[in-house]
Amino acid sequence: MKFLGLTLLIIGFAGCQSAEVAQALEAQSRSISSMIVDTLEAMKIQMEEGWPQYGIPPMAPLVLNHKELNFDSANGEFDNIVIQGLNEFEIVSLKTSPLLSRMTFEFNFASLNVTTNYKADIGSSSRMQRNGGAFLALEDLNIDGQIKYSLGVISGNVKIKDIKILIKVGNVVSNIENLSKYRILNRKLNEVVEEFITLTINDNTDFVAEWIDTTATPVMNDLIGDKSLADILGIINGGGSGGSSNNA
Ligand SMILES: *[C@@H]1O[C@H](CO)[C@@H](O)[C@H](O)[C@H]1NC(C)=O
Ligand SMILES: *[C@@H]1O[C@H](CO)[C@@H](O)[C@H](O)[C@H]1NC(C)=O
Repeated sequence: MKFLGLTLLIIGFAGCQSAEVAQALEAQSRSISSMIVDTLEAMKIQMEEGWPQYGIPPMAPLVLNHKELNFDSANGEFDNIVIQGLNEFEIVSLKTSPLLSRMTFEFNFASLNVTTNYKADIGSSSRMQRNGGAFLALEDLNIDGQIKYSLGVISGNVKIKDIKILIKVGNVVSNIENLSKYRILNRKLNEVVEEFITLTINDNTDFVAEWIDTTATPVMNDLIGDKSLADILGIINGGGSGGSSNNA
């Protein structure tokens, strides 16, 4: 809290435009950035255990028992779903600009993948049934983002104003068994899936960005409630006691 108060005081004085203030601001911004990077690094490790005190299960890997998807003419059931790689991302860059209340970042996931068993009913009349194992990976997944926020001057409370995120996938690997009993045709069908997912992600960047902004912004603000930045960093770090563990 003291740390944030100081930051805000400096931001307040930035109007003077003195070189000293500019330098202090620059240092302050570097120090906030490295605090956030440290928190994310701690988060990657904590993701293996989750945050049971907040009802968040282990996320690396994330194991889901049973999911069903229903479309007009197709039903799918998925069992033994294992999602790997959620915590294996590299922080390519992360910069904060307190003066502009903006944070920009770039993360890269080498492989984000899911393994599952599936059962599918396709087509209402011909009733095609398929089942087998499935593996799907998004490789070299790049997330480029910018978050604009506002910070309460006295409370230090954070509110997200907007989120801009660009997602690009380098390569998609699909290995769904038993789409066809003919091996060559099965490979072909997987190639169709790979191309479809690649295009869906890489050619709909505006749509994805819009969706994330409208969906994630209110959810994040709900989660944040009236917590300060220091509280949030403390919670992510696994302490949950609100920032006292930070070396502010
Ligand atoms: C799945 O992702 C994990 C984490 O990134 C990686 O270690 C593993 O090699 C991937 N599995 C395959 C089969 O690519
Ligand atoms: C492929 O699907 C058929 C029809 O549902 C099923 O009988 C067979 O066991 C499946 N094969 C594999 C390898 O899962």
